[in-house]
Amino acid sequence: MISSLIGRMVQFITLVLVLLTASAVNAATSRISLASTVIFDVMRYGAKGNGKTDDSQAFMKAWTAACQSKPNAKSIVNIPGGRTYLLKPVAFTGPCKPSKMFVQVSGNIVGSPRKGDWMSNHADSWLQFSNVNGLTVNGKGRIDGLGPMWWKNPCISPPPPGVTCHAPVEVQFKRCHGMRLNGLTLVNSPRVHLLLTTCNGAIVSNIHIISPETSPNTDGINIAGSTNVNVRDSVIAAGDDCIAISGGSSNIKISGIMCGPGHGISIGSLGHGGTDIVENVDVRNCTMRKTLAGVRIKTYQGGVGYAKKISFTGIKFDAVYNPIIIDQYYCPTKQDCLSSATTVKLSDITFRGISGTSNMENVINLSCSKTVACTNIVVDRVYIKSAIPGRKVYGSCINAHGRATHVKPYLNCLKP
Ligand SMILES: *[C@@H]1O[C@H](CO)[C@@H](O)[C@H](O)[C@H]1NC(C)=O
Ligand SMILES: *[C@@H]1O[C@H](CO)[C@@H](O)[C@H](O)[C@H]1NC(C)=O
Repeated sequence: MISSLIGRMVQFITLVLVLLTASAVNAATSRISLASTVIFDVMRYGAKGNGKTDDSQAFMKAWTAACQSKPNAKSIVNIPGGRTYLLKPVAFTGPCKPSKMFVQVSGNIVGSPRKGDWMSNHADSWLQFSNVNGLTVNGKGRIDGLGPMWWKNPCISPPPPGVTCHAPVEVQFKRCHGMRLNGLTLVNSPRVHLLLTTCNGAIVSNIHIISPETSPNTDGINIAGSTNVNVRDSVIAAGDDCIAISGGSSNIKISGIMCGPGHGISIGSLGHGGTDIVENVDVRNCTMRKTLAGVRIKTYQGGVGYAKKISFTGIKFDAVYNPIIIDQYYCPTKQDCLSSATTVKLSDITFRGISGTSNMENVINLSCSKTVACTNIVVDRVYIKSAIPGRKVYGSCINAHGRATHVKPYLNCLKP
């Protein structure tokens, strides 16, 4: 009985080994058909992966072949590990025939060290995925946008007088549906590391973003005009906002983020021309270390629209400069700052279960518009003390309405 069982197990294991060997042999020829999975290996499409030769064309060819392959197959664009691929700006566009597209990034990707190579016809992002449904980008690869050459000068060529240059975004997903991004490391972006625009249903997880504190405009993740987005379990060190959520975004969940250095997690800035609406944002279980801001909502004077149902819960601060901020007077240039009767209306904003230390004395600053009040602001179980022993901290408000319960420092501007 037992020996025949063992015999069958041996048979079964042998069969599995034979299948595995067969697939390994097939993998060597790189475009394999295993059931309905088809692999498109960039090496087979001519990539060199030596970090010096331009591999953009090979990547485009592998992508195009994968995107145009069988509708009911699973297409995998494979970027093998142990190599570095040099890319100019590349647009990976859909729609694609397969219902699911995978990009396996095991190797590293680096930008061209020649700025002239960064001219692109797809606006201002370096690696752009657009119009692809059911796209998964996964792997332990490292994406390097050669930030230092952009931080000194964001222009590709000298701009006409009066024109401000914006360095490229490192990775952008545009008009995506059901996107998954997992595991990658994004370093030294020229500007924003990861930008999601007009995406619906996206999960970003286990991402590592690394740029120095002094690098200008290097937001970690920007979410704009997108719905049903979940960003979780990621570590972000950047020179600007770790995560910024801007107009047209709703049902956004952020959790398990380690942020610092950086400017914290931010809604906005909103109301800078046009109507901005942000709704249902849930930020929880995040830690900020030595960030310039902690959690904040920033709007310009004179904007139109609203932001509501926004909650920050379970946040820990370690020596953060400005832990909790509502700033409806946002004006980064500090010049010609409007004072206006209109603004983006803020309501149903919750700060709950927040604790830690601050390097500044003003630890809660709820500065709402003088003409349009913030309503239903809830501050509950928030305890922030100074990172400097013995120093006092305080909170302040302008036109903020709602409740403060179990809050230290005491906020006398909200009802208990
Ligand atoms: C909170 O986030 C940390 C990572 O920052 C993670 O390890 C932990 O599991 C999370 N806890 C919950 C309850 O989600
Ligand atoms: C609170 O924020 C407002 C708006 O940015 C600013 O003008 C004010 O100086 C801040 N208050 C303190 C005490 O820092």
